[in-house]
Amino acid sequence: MTSLWSIILELPYKPAEEDRQRLELALEPFGEALSSFEVDDGKAWKIEVFGESKPARRLVDAALKPLGKFKAAIAPVPEKDWVAESQKGLPALSAGPFFIHGSHHTGRLPKNKIVFEIDAGMAFGTGRHETTRGCLLALGRLAESGQKFRKPLDIGTGTGILAFAMARLFKVPVIGGDNDKDSVRVARENAALNGLKREVKILLSDGYRAAAIRSQAPFDLVCANILANPLIELAPSLAKVLGRNGRAVLSGLLRSQEKDVLAAHEAQGLELDFRLRLKDWSVLVVKRRVKTAAGKKPASKKSVVKKSMTGKSAAKVKAKATKRKVAQKKTAAGKPGRRS
Ligand SMILES: C[S@@+](CC[C@H](N)C(=O)[O-])C[C@H]1O[C@@H](n2cnc3c(N)ncnc32)[C@H](O)[C@@H]1O
Repeated sequence: MTSLWSIILELPYKPAEEDRQRLELALEPFGEALSSFEVDDGKAWKIEVFGESKPARRLVDAALKPLGKFKAAIAPVPEKDWVAESQKGLPALSAGPFFIHGSHHTGRLPKNKIVFEIDAGMAFGTGRHETTRGCLLALGRLAESGQKFRKPLDIGTGTGILAFAMARLFKVPVIGGDNDKDSVRVARENAALNGLKREVKILLSDGYRAAAIRSQAPFDLVCANILANPLIELAPSLAKVLGRNGRAVLSGLLRSQEKDVLAAHEAQGLELDFRLRLKDWSVLVVKRRVKTAAGKKPASKKSVVKKSMTGKSAAKVKAKATKRKVAQKKTAAGKPGRRS
């Protein structure tokens, strides 16, 4: 028996942002889930709406009419096919040192990557969203920097993807917490599926409240991919559980929200280590602010050198620095630049 209906609008071109949003708004009321994505290598566009009741053709046509000559297809979707098809639509992806694929993936698995099998389902986190991908890239960058992490925590774990990434990348046990029961169940299933049942412990936790999280603090690496407002609200709790030389990877915020999220963490004695930006989204990696005995930030290396050099020695350093700059320019001209 069919329990799901779809409305599919195919456009033989990539619509302008505003037009696309108007079409999505017109179709959204007809279902419970809407996806809107490019097809045919970006040459065309598809909007799909899925709902539990059959949409009336007359009402769908009426909703689209003010926007132009559009004709959407309305069809029943057999439930089993729907799950399989939605997963087929998700190709495998690489993000930094990680490769993530669904159970439908039949291609080769790269030997030089950390591989996870994660299906789209009831929990968020297949790696395709910029907020997750940004965290995976930030973790890759932290690992590249050579810093060692022994006790990571993942808050808002969803499918468990970031907890798994930290467990494999740093070869340590990880705690993952989520305030959603379905996510906790899915993350536990995924941990078992990916051979990480022992290494990754998934807990039901609202923010950092779970007793097991509080008793195991401090953590030296925390990932929190939740929205900007919860990040801001949770900033004092994060500061309490983050270890002295720890790093926190904050995600789920738009570029326009960076300032507020950072300010909330600065107020807790944290400061920006580095940031990554993916489309409109931003990932902030913060660390504990280093204070001198007087409570001030230590002077940067550059200014220390400047202050302690006078006369001849300063002139020598300047001459050396100029030579180095010339050498760097030559290298940059000869080699492709590194991505940050
Ligand atoms: C954007 S998803 C991130 C999932 C996954 N970590 C990823 O990076 O793809 C946010 C997750 O945070 C959870 N969440 C939201 N607010 C939370 C809170 N206050 N405490 C714990 N989990 C929370 C949601 O249930 C959801 O699973």
